[in-house]
Amino acid sequence: MISKHILARLRTLTRPACRSSQPLNQYKLQTRRYSDAPLPSPAAPASTSPPAATLRSKSSLNETELRKFAAISETWWDAEGPFKPLHVMNPTRLAFIRSTLCRHFGKDPNSSRPFEGLQFVDVGCGGGILSEPLARMGASVTGIDAVEKNIKIAQLHADLDPTTSSIDYLCTTAEKLVEEQRKFDAVLALEVIEHVADPADFCESLSALTKYGGATLISTINRSMRAYATAIVVAEYILHWLPRGTHQWSSFLTPEELVLILQRASISIEEMAGFVYNPLTGRWSLSDDISVNFIAYGTKNSN
Ligand SMILES: C[S@@+](CC[C@H](N)C(=O)[O-])C[C@H]1O[C@@H](n2cnc3c(N)ncnc32)[C@H](O)[C@@H]1O
Repeated sequence: MISKHILARLRTLTRPACRSSQPLNQYKLQTRRYSDAPLPSPAAPASTSPPAATLRSKSSLNETELRKFAAISETWWDAEGPFKPLHVMNPTRLAFIRSTLCRHFGKDPNSSRPFEGLQFVDVGCGGGILSEPLARMGASVTGIDAVEKNIKIAQLHADLDPTTSSIDYLCTTAEKLVEEQRKFDAVLALEVIEHVADPADFCESLSALTKYGGATLISTINRSMRAYATAIVVAEYILHWLPRGTHQWSSFLTPEELVLILQRASISIEEMAGFVYNPLTGRWSLSDDISVNFIAYGTKNSN
Protein backbone atom coordinates (compact mmCIF):
# COMPACT_ATOMS: atom_id res chain seq x y z
CA MET A 1 0.00 0.00 0.00
CA ILE A 2 1.11 3.53 -0.68
CA SER A 3 3.51 5.02 1.79
CA LYS A 4 3.43 2.30 4.43
CA HIS A 5 7.20 2.65 4.76
CA ILE A 6 6.90 6.45 4.94
CA LEU A 7 4.42 6.00 7.74
CA ALA A 8 6.69 3.60 9.59
CA ARG A 9 9.46 6.21 9.34
CA LEU A 10 7.20 8.99 10.56
CA ARG A 11 6.08 6.86 13.50
CA THR A 12 9.72 6.31 14.42
CA LEU A 13 10.40 10.02 14.15
CA THR A 14 7.46 10.99 16.32
CA ARG A 15 7.76 8.21 18.89
CA PRO A 16 10.46 9.75 21.10
CA ALA A 17 8.42 12.92 21.46
CA CYS A 18 5.40 10.96 22.64
CA ARG A 19 7.48 9.02 25.16
CA SER A 20 9.23 12.13 26.33
CA SER A 21 9.07 12.84 30.03
CA GLN A 22 8.79 16.58 29.29
CA PRO A 23 5.45 18.23 30.01
CA LEU A 24 3.37 18.23 26.79
CA ASN A 25 3.14 22.01 26.44
CA GLN A 26 6.91 22.33 26.86
CA TYR A 27 7.42 20.04 23.87
CA LYS A 28 4.68 21.88 21.98
CA LEU A 29 6.51 25.20 22.41
CA GLN A 30 9.70 23.72 21.01
CA THR A 31 7.99 22.31 17.92
CA ARG A 32 5.57 25.11 17.11
CA ARG A 33 7.85 26.92 14.64
CA TYR A 34 4.99 26.81 12.15
CA SER A 35 2.58 28.80 14.25
CA ASP A 36 2.57 32.56 14.72
CA ALA A 37 0.12 32.18 17.59
CA PRO A 38 1.27 33.94 20.78
CA LEU A 39 2.76 31.55 23.29
CA PRO A 40 1.36 31.36 26.82
CA SER A 41 3.63 32.92 29.40
CA PRO A 42 4.95 30.22 31.75
CA ALA A 43 5.23 32.86 34.48
CA ALA A 44 1.61 34.02 34.21
CA PRO A 45 -0.12 33.97 37.61
CA ALA A 46 -2.82 31.31 37.92
CA SER A 47 -5.57 33.89 38.42
CA THR A 48 -5.03 35.33 34.90
CA SER A 49 -5.35 31.93 33.15
CA PRO A 50 -8.47 31.71 31.00
CA PRO A 51 -11.15 29.37 32.35
CA ALA A 52 -11.36 25.92 30.75
CA ALA A 53 -14.51 26.89 28.82
CA THR A 54 -12.63 29.73 27.12
CA LEU A 55 -9.83 27.39 26.14
CA ARG A 56 -12.30 24.97 24.59
CA SER A 57 -14.04 27.66 22.53
CA LYS A 58 -10.89 28.84 20.69
CA SER A 59 -11.55 29.99 17.17
CA SER A 60 -9.90 28.45 14.11
CA LEU A 61 -10.56 31.59 12.10
CA ASN A 62 -7.70 33.51 10.53
CA GLU A 63 -9.40 36.63 9.17
CA THR A 64 -6.57 37.47 6.74
CA GLU A 65 -6.87 34.04 5.14
CA LEU A 66 -10.67 34.19 4.99
CA ARG A 67 -10.58 37.57 3.22
CA LYS A 68 -8.48 35.99 0.45
CA PHE A 69 -11.11 33.30 -0.14
CA ALA A 70 -14.03 35.74 0.07
CA ALA A 71 -12.40 37.87 -2.66
CA ILE A 72 -12.39 34.98 -5.17
CA SER A 73 -15.54 33.14 -4.08
CA GLU A 74 -17.29 33.62 -7.41
CA THR A 75 -14.60 31.63 -9.22
CA TRP A 76 -15.03 28.27 -7.44
CA TRP A 77 -16.51 26.52 -10.47
CA ASP A 78 -14.38 28.23 -13.10
CA ALA A 79 -12.20 25.29 -14.13
CA GLU A 80 -9.61 27.71 -15.55
CA GLY A 81 -9.71 30.12 -12.57
CA PRO A 82 -7.76 30.33 -9.29
CA PHE A 83 -9.15 26.98 -8.14
CA LYS A 84 -7.96 25.16 -11.28
CA PRO A 85 -5.30 23.25 -9.28
CA LEU A 86 -8.01 21.83 -6.99
CA HIS A 87 -10.21 20.86 -9.95
CA VAL A 88 -7.29 19.13 -11.67
CA MET A 89 -6.17 17.43 -8.45
CA ASN A 90 -9.70 16.26 -7.53
CA PRO A 91 -9.76 12.87 -9.30
CA THR A 92 -6.44 11.94 -7.67
CA ARG A 93 -7.45 12.90 -4.16
CA LEU A 94 -10.84 11.20 -4.64
CA ALA A 95 -9.01 7.99 -5.65
CA PHE A 96 -7.16 8.06 -2.31
CA ILE A 97 -10.34 8.88 -0.37
CA ARG A 98 -12.37 6.15 -2.10
CA SER A 99 -9.73 3.51 -1.55
CA THR A 100 -8.95 4.32 2.11
CA LEU A 101 -12.56 4.92 3.19
CA CYS A 102 -13.92 1.83 1.40
CA ARG A 103 -11.31 -0.23 3.23
CA HIS A 104 -12.01 1.56 6.51
CA PHE A 105 -15.78 1.06 6.37
CA GLY A 106 -15.68 -2.36 4.64
CA LYS A 107 -17.41 -1.01 1.51
CA ASP A 108 -17.08 -2.19 -2.09
CA PRO A 109 -14.79 0.23 -3.96
CA ASN A 110 -16.32 -0.91 -7.26
CA SER A 111 -19.82 0.14 -6.24
CA SER A 112 -21.10 3.39 -7.77
CA ARG A 113 -22.37 4.56 -4.33
CA PRO A 114 -19.95 2.97 -1.84
CA PHE A 115 -20.56 5.58 0.88
CA GLU A 116 -24.31 4.99 1.15
CA GLY A 117 -25.39 5.15 4.80
CA LEU A 118 -22.31 7.11 5.97
CA GLN A 119 -22.24 10.67 7.28
CA PHE A 120 -19.32 12.84 6.17
CA VAL A 121 -18.40 16.41 7.01
CA ASP A 122 -16.27 18.40 4.55
CA VAL A 123 -14.63 21.10 6.69
CA GLY A 124 -13.61 24.20 4.71
CA CYS A 125 -15.63 22.95 1.74
CA GLY A 126 -15.28 26.15 -0.30
CA GLY A 127 -17.54 25.93 -3.35
CA GLY A 128 -18.11 22.19 -2.90
CA ILE A 129 -15.50 20.75 -5.27
CA LEU A 130 -15.04 17.78 -2.92
CA SER A 131 -18.50 17.66 -1.27
CA GLU A 132 -20.28 17.06 -4.58
CA PRO A 133 -18.44 13.89 -5.68
CA LEU A 134 -18.68 12.54 -2.12
CA ALA A 135 -22.47 13.00 -2.26
CA ARG A 136 -22.55 11.31 -5.68
CA MET A 137 -20.76 8.36 -4.09
CA GLY A 138 -23.69 8.06 -1.70
CA ALA A 139 -22.44 9.83 1.45
CA SER A 140 -24.75 12.13 3.45
CA VAL A 141 -22.54 15.19 3.25
CA THR A 142 -22.44 18.25 5.49
CA GLY A 143 -20.23 20.93 3.92
CA ILE A 144 -19.07 23.74 6.16
CA ASP A 145 -17.07 26.87 5.44
CA ALA A 146 -16.35 30.04 7.39
CA VAL A 147 -16.96 32.26 4.33
CA GLU A 148 -20.65 32.90 3.72
CA LYS A 149 -20.15 33.65 0.01
CA ASN A 150 -18.50 30.23 -0.49
CA ILE A 151 -21.49 28.50 1.07
CA LYS A 152 -23.91 30.42 -1.17
CA ILE A 153 -21.97 29.45 -4.30
CA ALA A 154 -21.72 25.84 -3.11
CA GLN A 155 -25.47 25.67 -2.47
CA LEU A 156 -26.36 27.23 -5.83
CA HIS A 157 -24.10 24.79 -7.66
CA ALA A 158 -25.29 21.71 -5.72
CA ASP A 159 -28.93 22.63 -6.42
CA LEU A 160 -28.28 22.21 -10.16
CA ASP A 161 -28.10 18.42 -9.76
CA PRO A 162 -30.53 16.18 -7.81
CA THR A 163 -27.64 13.91 -6.75
CA THR A 164 -25.95 16.78 -4.91
CA SER A 165 -28.89 18.95 -3.83
CA SER A 166 -29.15 16.96 -0.57
CA ILE A 167 -25.77 18.32 0.67
CA ASP A 168 -26.29 20.24 3.89
CA TYR A 169 -24.18 23.40 3.47
CA LEU A 170 -23.61 25.55 6.56
CA CYS A 171 -21.59 28.69 7.13
CA THR A 172 -19.90 27.66 10.36
CA THR A 173 -16.67 26.27 11.83
CA ALA A 174 -15.53 22.88 13.08
CA GLU A 175 -15.39 24.17 16.65
CA LYS A 176 -19.01 25.37 16.48
CA LEU A 177 -20.14 21.93 15.28
CA VAL A 178 -18.20 20.45 18.23
CA GLU A 179 -20.15 22.73 20.59
CA GLU A 180 -23.34 21.37 18.99
CA GLN A 181 -22.01 17.84 19.73
CA ARG A 182 -22.20 16.77 16.07
CA LYS A 183 -20.39 13.52 15.11
CA PHE A 184 -19.58 12.05 11.71
CA ASP A 185 -18.32 8.74 10.33
CA ALA A 186 -15.66 10.60 8.34
CA VAL A 187 -14.24 14.09 8.75
CA LEU A 188 -12.39 15.58 5.77
CA ALA A 189 -10.42 18.83 5.71
CA LEU A 190 -8.56 19.16 2.43
CA GLU A 191 -6.25 22.13 1.85
CA VAL A 192 -7.63 23.94 4.92
CA ILE A 193 -5.23 23.39 7.83
CA GLU A 194 -2.64 25.78 6.31
CA HIS A 195 -5.25 28.57 6.50
CA VAL A 196 -6.45 28.17 10.13
CA ALA A 197 -5.39 30.10 13.23
CA ASP A 198 -3.91 27.14 15.12
CA PRO A 199 -3.41 23.72 13.47
CA ALA A 200 -3.31 21.79 16.77
CA ASP A 201 -6.60 23.27 18.00
CA PHE A 202 -8.12 22.67 14.57
CA CYS A 203 -7.10 18.99 14.73
CA GLU A 204 -8.66 18.72 18.21
CA SER A 205 -11.94 19.92 16.69
CA LEU A 206 -11.68 17.52 13.73
CA SER A 207 -11.07 14.68 16.17
CA ALA A 208 -14.03 15.69 18.36
CA LEU A 209 -16.26 15.62 15.25
CA THR A 210 -15.09 12.09 14.33
CA LYS A 211 -17.06 9.17 15.80
CA TYR A 212 -15.03 6.64 17.78
CA GLY A 213 -13.59 4.28 15.14
CA GLY A 214 -14.34 6.81 12.40
CA ALA A 215 -11.92 8.27 9.87
CA THR A 216 -10.22 11.65 9.49
CA LEU A 217 -8.56 12.85 6.28
CA ILE A 218 -6.38 15.92 5.96
CA SER A 219 -4.45 17.18 2.97
CA THR A 220 -2.00 20.06 2.98
CA ILE A 221 1.42 21.26 1.80
CA ASN A 222 4.73 20.25 3.35
CA ARG A 223 6.92 23.00 4.84
CA SER A 224 9.86 21.99 2.61
CA MET A 225 12.14 23.97 0.32
CA ARG A 226 10.63 22.09 -2.65
CA ALA A 227 7.17 23.24 -1.60
CA TYR A 228 8.43 26.84 -1.35
CA ALA A 229 9.87 26.56 -4.86
CA THR A 230 6.88 24.84 -6.49
CA ALA A 231 3.72 25.64 -4.50
CA ILE A 232 4.64 29.30 -3.98
CA VAL A 233 7.26 30.54 -6.45
CA VAL A 234 6.14 28.50 -9.48
CA ALA A 235 2.37 28.27 -8.81
CA GLU A 236 1.86 31.86 -7.62
CA TYR A 237 4.64 33.94 -9.25
CA ILE A 238 5.57 32.13 -12.48
CA LEU A 239 2.53 30.16 -13.69
CA HIS A 240 -0.04 32.41 -11.90
CA TRP A 241 -2.16 29.36 -11.06
CA LEU A 242 -3.04 30.97 -7.73
CA PRO A 243 -3.25 34.62 -6.67
CA ARG A 244 0.02 35.86 -5.15
CA GLY A 245 0.00 35.50 -1.37
CA THR A 246 -2.45 32.55 -1.38
CA HIS A 247 0.00 30.51 0.70
CA GLN A 248 2.36 31.42 3.53
CA TRP A 249 5.28 29.00 3.71
CA SER A 250 5.48 29.37 7.50
CA SER A 251 1.88 28.09 7.81
CA PHE A 252 2.70 24.77 6.16
CA LEU A 253 3.15 21.66 8.31
CA THR A 254 5.66 18.90 7.81
CA PRO A 255 4.22 15.35 7.75
CA GLU A 256 5.98 14.70 11.08
CA GLU A 257 4.24 17.68 12.70
CA LEU A 258 0.86 16.63 11.32
CA VAL A 259 1.28 13.06 12.60
CA LEU A 260 2.26 14.41 16.01
CA ILE A 261 -0.61 16.86 16.44
CA LEU A 262 -3.09 14.26 15.22
CA GLN A 263 -1.68 11.67 17.63
CA ARG A 264 -2.22 14.15 20.46
CA ALA A 265 -5.79 14.60 19.24
CA SER A 266 -6.39 10.80 19.41
CA ILE A 267 -6.14 10.25 15.64
CA SER A 268 -3.70 7.52 14.56
CA ILE A 269 -2.42 8.05 11.06
CA GLU A 270 -2.86 4.84 9.07
CA GLU A 271 -1.72 5.94 5.64
CA MET A 272 -0.17 8.87 3.88
CA ALA A 273 0.42 9.64 0.19
CA GLY A 274 1.87 12.43 -1.88
CA PHE A 275 0.28 14.15 -4.86
CA VAL A 276 2.75 14.70 -7.66
CA TYR A 277 2.18 16.92 -10.69
CA ASN A 278 3.44 15.90 -14.11
CA PRO A 279 3.94 19.08 -16.18
CA LEU A 280 4.03 17.05 -19.41
CA THR A 281 0.58 15.48 -18.97
CA GLY A 282 -0.86 18.24 -16.77
CA ARG A 283 -2.08 15.53 -14.40
CA TRP A 284 -1.60 14.68 -10.74
CA SER A 285 -0.91 11.18 -9.46
CA LEU A 286 -0.56 9.46 -6.10
CA SER A 287 3.02 8.90 -5.02
CA ASP A 288 5.31 8.04 -2.12
CA ASP A 289 6.80 11.52 -2.57
CA ILE A 290 5.31 13.62 0.24
CA SER A 291 7.78 16.48 -0.13
CA VAL A 292 5.17 18.96 -1.45
CA ASN A 293 1.46 18.06 -1.49
CA PHE A 294 0.34 15.22 0.75
CA ILE A 295 -2.77 13.61 2.26
CA ALA A 296 -3.10 11.70 5.52
CA TYR A 297 -5.80 9.27 6.60
CA GLY A 298 -6.22 8.35 10.24
CA THR A 299 -8.61 6.65 12.62
CA LYS A 300 -10.13 7.98 15.82
CA ASN A 301 -8.87 5.80 18.62
CA SER A 302 -10.72 7.07 21.70
CA ASN A 303 -14.09 8.47 22.67
C1 LIG B 1 -7.99 26.06 -0.26
S1 LIG B 1 -9.68 26.08 0.10
C2 LIG B 1 -10.04 24.35 0.09
C3 LIG B 1 -11.46 24.05 -0.32
C4 LIG B 1 -11.87 22.57 -0.31
N1 LIG B 1 -11.56 21.95 0.96
C5 LIG B 1 -11.18 21.82 -1.41
O1 LIG B 1 -10.10 21.28 -1.17
O2 LIG B 1 -11.72 21.79 -2.52
C6 LIG B 1 -9.74 26.45 1.85
C7 LIG B 1 -11.15 26.71 2.34
O3 LIG B 1 -11.16 26.67 3.77
C8 LIG B 1 -12.00 27.68 4.26
N2 LIG B 1 -11.56 27.99 5.63
C9 LIG B 1 -10.40 28.56 6.02
N3 LIG B 1 -10.33 28.61 7.36
C10 LIG B 1 -11.47 28.02 7.82
C11 LIG B 1 -11.96 27.73 9.12
N4 LIG B 1 -11.27 28.07 10.20
N5 LIG B 1 -13.14 27.11 9.24
C12 LIG B 1 -13.85 26.76 8.13
N6 LIG B 1 -13.44 27.02 6.87
C13 LIG B 1 -12.25 27.62 6.72
C14 LIG B 1 -11.81 28.83 3.27
O4 LIG B 1 -12.88 29.74 3.28
C15 LIG B 1 -11.72 28.07 1.94
O5 LIG B 1 -12.97 27.88 1.36
